[in-house]
Amino acid sequence: MLSRRCLLLSLMLSLMLLINTVHSWRACTDLLPLDLLERALPRPGQAPPPQVQIVQSKGSRGLRLAGAMATALSFSASQIFSNCDFFPAEFSLVATVQTPRLRQKRNEYIFSLVEEASDSLVLGLRVSENRLHLLVSGANPEGRSRISFKDVGLDDNRWHTVVLAVTGPYVTLTVDCGLPLELKQVQSFPSSLSTRDSRFFIGSRKRLRGRFSGLLRQLVLLPGSDATSRLCPTSDPRLAELSVPRVLKAPLIQPDQLAPEFPYEAEARVTLGTRPLCSEPELGQLWLNAQSRGFFICDGVRWRTLLHHQERLDYVEDYQDLYTSSETFDVEVFSVPSEGLFMAAANRDSRPGSGLYKWRNGSFTLYQNISTQEARAWKHFSIDGKVFLVVANSREVEPELSVIYRWHQRRRRFLRHQTLETHSALDWESFSIHNHSFLVVANHRRARDSNHNIHSVIYRWNPNTQLFEVNQTLSTSGAYDWEFFSVGPYHFLAVANTFDGRTTAISSTVYVWLSGSFQIFQSIPTLGATDWETFQIDGRFFLAVANSQKVCERGPSLYSINSTVYELNTLTHSFIRFQDILTHSAVDWEFFTVGEEKFLVVANSHDGSSYSLNSVLYRWQGYEGFVPVHSLPTFGCRDWEHFSTDEGSFLVYSSATSRLSKVFKLRTF
Ligand SMILES: *[C@@H]1O[C@H](CO)[C@@H](O)[C@H](O)[C@H]1NC(C)=O
Ligand SMILES: *[C@@H]1O[C@H](CO)[C@@H](O)[C@H](O)[C@H]1NC(C)=O
Ligand SMILES: *[C@@H]1O[C@H](CO)[C@@H](O)[C@H](O)[C@H]1NC(C)=O
Ligand SMILES: *[C@@H]1O[C@H](CO)[C@@H](O)[C@H](O)[C@H]1NC(C)=O
Ligand SMILES: *[C@@H]1O[C@H](CO)[C@@H](O)[C@H](O)[C@H]1NC(C)=O
Repeated sequence: MLSRRCLLLSLMLSLMLLINTVHSWRACTDLLPLDLLERALPRPGQAPPPQVQIVQSKGSRGLRLAGAMATALSFSASQIFSNCDFFPAEFSLVATVQTPRLRQKRNEYIFSLVEEASDSLVLGLRVSENRLHLLVSGANPEGRSRISFKDVGLDDNRWHTVVLAVTGPYVTLTVDCGLPLELKQVQSFPSSLSTRDSRFFIGSRKRLRGRFSGLLRQLVLLPGSDATSRLCPTSDPRLAELSVPRVLKAPLIQPDQLAPEFPYEAEARVTLGTRPLCSEPELGQLWLNAQSRGFFICDGVRWRTLLHHQERLDYVEDYQDLYTSSETFDVEVFSVPSEGLFMAAANRDSRPGSGLYKWRNGSFTLYQNISTQEARAWKHFSIDGKVFLVVANSREVEPELSVIYRWHQRRRRFLRHQTLETHSALDWESFSIHNHSFLVVANHRRARDSNHNIHSVIYRWNPNTQLFEVNQTLSTSGAYDWEFFSVGPYHFLAVANTFDGRTTAISSTVYVWLSGSFQIFQSIPTLGATDWETFQIDGRFFLAVANSQKVCERGPSLYSINSTVYELNTLTHSFIRFQDILTHSAVDWEFFTVGEEKFLVVANSHDGSSYSLNSVLYRWQGYEGFVPVHSLPTFGCRDWEHFSTDEGSFLVYSSATSRLSKVFKLRTF
């Protein structure tokens, strides 16, 4: 009797519990499809959350949240669990997503339900490489369970609609209205999963980590039943629809200004990451490969290069023949703010002197004649926003003078500013140290006694007199070139000593700035050095010398000799030989970059019999050093300059033996 009553009681209790449970989930929410995505979006009249974008891909729109805050789209669970706060024990989730290929171990949340105070996950729908997971807390005594569907292939960058239906211990997944995949769990879905004080986060798990990187078009919770029968079959199973937010369906032009305006991205869909699929459906899709910095478009079969952010040199193209008034020893390309790009050519003849050319309509045209005396080099510089040009006049007539010119804003021309006594000046270098402007001249030889062992002079700008004044003199031997460079807080000046009156096998000197003056840092043996070029590659400092000739006591001079690239060794604090490069009376090195690639071009001027030689372009290839990649026929090549304009990247060379200077265009791919 007792036992029967007990049984009855327990039966009644279970029945009551059952009724209560059934009643509770029935009562917690509506049994209509609950559009989680629509709910998370701003109401009409509200501003959209920043960085949430609408992206149209293959004709359908979705939301991209990858750039937005992880909490950009969220709402309190109490909004839908209005009567009580148990998550339904039976339900289905419908999601339409487009997911880029996911790296191994990468997990992205389509949505999550998070208990706010503890930050613990109540429920989550997550994609990873080829898998879909439903995470549930409190499903078993250990706390959390993960129901994983393998080989679902959602991360193939196409639209897919998934329906995940939960009934007791059964979890069924239907992708694109295909065959349902059923998993039976040991434990049924918890019948009393609390959503109290929880919040839905769309496209995230409330954190930056695990944010959804794809496009989200549909996210619906249907309590109480499996939505599959409502969706399938359909003509477009990838985009099967239960409920899609209005903004993703409405025409783009909003008739009423009340609707929030999302930044919109047109059909061109840009994918990041590793090489995505490219087949018919991806036609016209763009892929930005951040690693190689390439930009590609899918032609329906394969990815085609649109743009290599990192341009690569393809070939060098003849671009402009520039006939100067006489042979040109040096060209200096510079810009005058608000005027444009100019090139000063150092021409031999005194009449009409040297030419200043302006870049107009994609080529250099003569702009101003400047009277010079066997000009060997031009150097431009700015002081307090004023543009200057200084010429190295080499004509050996007393008095030997070089001239500084200043750009006159109103007259739009260079006018004489100051003259300085020089001795067969071959080069000027300008630099500034601690906001003081300096100029240094390479005095090659003194006319009155034909002496090469003389002083080269450093001048300092006096802001009060607006003139350059002598600051220091340094003894040089047939100085040909000065190069200034800085390494960290240290400032260096290197002189190319060519000839001491007897031999070209002499030392060229690198000076370092110490307590207000330049002092010898290192003497480097050179052979008729004519140029120093300094450059940096990946934090390494290099100095290249152009060796022009070896004068022999008996017999003719040697012109085909090595020029050397030195590297600064920060341990020994000295430049050590890095690479020897065979050159033919090298008179100039020019370093330049194209995209990420680094180049050196040498001016080969003479091989003992001819001036018609190839100048060689070398590309930096790391461990191999500089490797020849192009040979450019030149005649009496004296100087190379690299410059860039809106029209592209160029090289110009001047000839010391003919009136023809040439501009080349660097074709890239
Ligand atoms: C540039 O070239 C175009 C046609 O080639 C010509 O019409 C225009 O006048 C030129 N502009 C200048 C500043 O020379
Ligand atoms: C420069 O000098 C040449 C030769 O005397 C002359 O033909 C040309 O017109 C001059 N150009 C300018 C811009 O002064
Ligand atoms: C540099 O010197 C100029 C005057 O020659 C002065 O106007 C400017 O303020 C100085 N700048 C700094 C950073 O000292
Ligand atoms: C040269 O310039 C430096 C830096 O302005 C200064 O300290 C030094 O006194 C100057 N030397 C001479 C001799 O003028
Ligand atoms: C140039 O340098 C290389 C390598 O250091 C050497 O083998 C070669 O003999 C040198 N050539 C000349 C002409 O000095």
